[in-house]
Amino acid sequence: MEEKKLKRILTGDRPTGKLHIGHYFGSLKNRVELQNTGEYEQFIEIADVQALTDNFNNPEKVRTNVREVVKDYLSIGIDPNKTTIFLQSMIPEIAELTVFYSNLVTIARLERNPTVKTEIAQKREIFGDSVTYGFLGYPVSQAADITCFEGEFVPVGEDQEPLIEQCREIVRKFNSIYGEGVLVEPKIVLSKTARIKGLDGNAKMGKSLGNAIYLSDSEEEITKKVMSAVTDPARIKKDDLGNPDVCMVAYYHNLFTPKEQYETILRECREGKRGCVQCKRELAANIIEYLRPMREKRAYYDAHPEEVDKIIKEGTERARKVAKETMKKVKKAMRLDYFED
Ligand code: TRP
Repeated sequence: MEEKKLKRILTGDRPTGKLHIGHYFGSLKNRVELQNTGEYEQFIEIADVQALTDNFNNPEKVRTNVREVVKDYLSIGIDPNKTTIFLQSMIPEIAELTVFYSNLVTIARLERNPTVKTEIAQKREIFGDSVTYGFLGYPVSQAADITCFEGEFVPVGEDQEPLIEQCREIVRKFNSIYGEGVLVEPKIVLSKTARIKGLDGNAKMGKSLGNAIYLSDSEEEITKKVMSAVTDPARIKKDDLGNPDVCMVAYYHNLFTPKEQYETILRECREGKRGCVQCKRELAANIIEYLRPMREKRAYYDAHPEEVDKIIKEGTERARKVAKETMKKVKKAMRLDYFED
């Protein structure tokens, strides 16, 4: 039987914290679906080296979160037999490629990258007035992440668009100097789901904001967080007419509650026929049920850390083989293949 050549997908995450439901609806769910179509070969990088660019003073945090993020993947249905999960720091070819690419990017171009620009402004605490060479250059390293594995499609959120665009520029420049077709130019695949708001109504869900529900949260944690969610501020008594459009509880019901029940909830709220406390209890129960299979799978991996390590090691070995092949092509094109015959 002839083997079909599958299109390769490359994505990654910085291991700086456990993943939450915002990550789930924003990208993780999509990765499971892509994996299960059988039409792609998916590689997911745990970008520990990139995580260090703004956490270099906290290596323990990055180290701990590598396994947490992998357990998050496994718990939601990423199957290591179908998807390759690998660790950036264990693929030296990525670092090597980054050095070669750094000749093809100007400082001014990096400083203009909107994502990097915003991040530098937000990270004054760590960088002060002068950003590090490593952080300014992380788009170059991310270009190496993608091209080292000949990633054709990169499914990410909007915030990553400038990074993928910069990667495409590097590829075009490289190919124009060293040989057309040596590197594969990736395409961005924007995720369809908008960013999920936090429990407090903030446009972003995040650890530092304390408004996130983690995939690994216990039933008690989920209930406690949901009970504190922001509701319609104009609604004081149970029979006041509610406005679900400004209520975070209604917003989450839309994600976790079966359609019919959801519609009843909206109607009862608008008619002043349902209390917020009851509404939150129902939401908590639905979130708990929705995440139950993930919690159970995670509990299995929490109890079998050696299996998690094996998955990371085997994935990294598989990825490294691909990286070595790419490196061979790159060095040949760059006239650095001195003793190859
Ligand atoms: N920069 C990405 C983020 O912060 C993580 C990442 C690293 C990545 N390497 C990648 C994403 C390669 C896509 C492809 O989310």
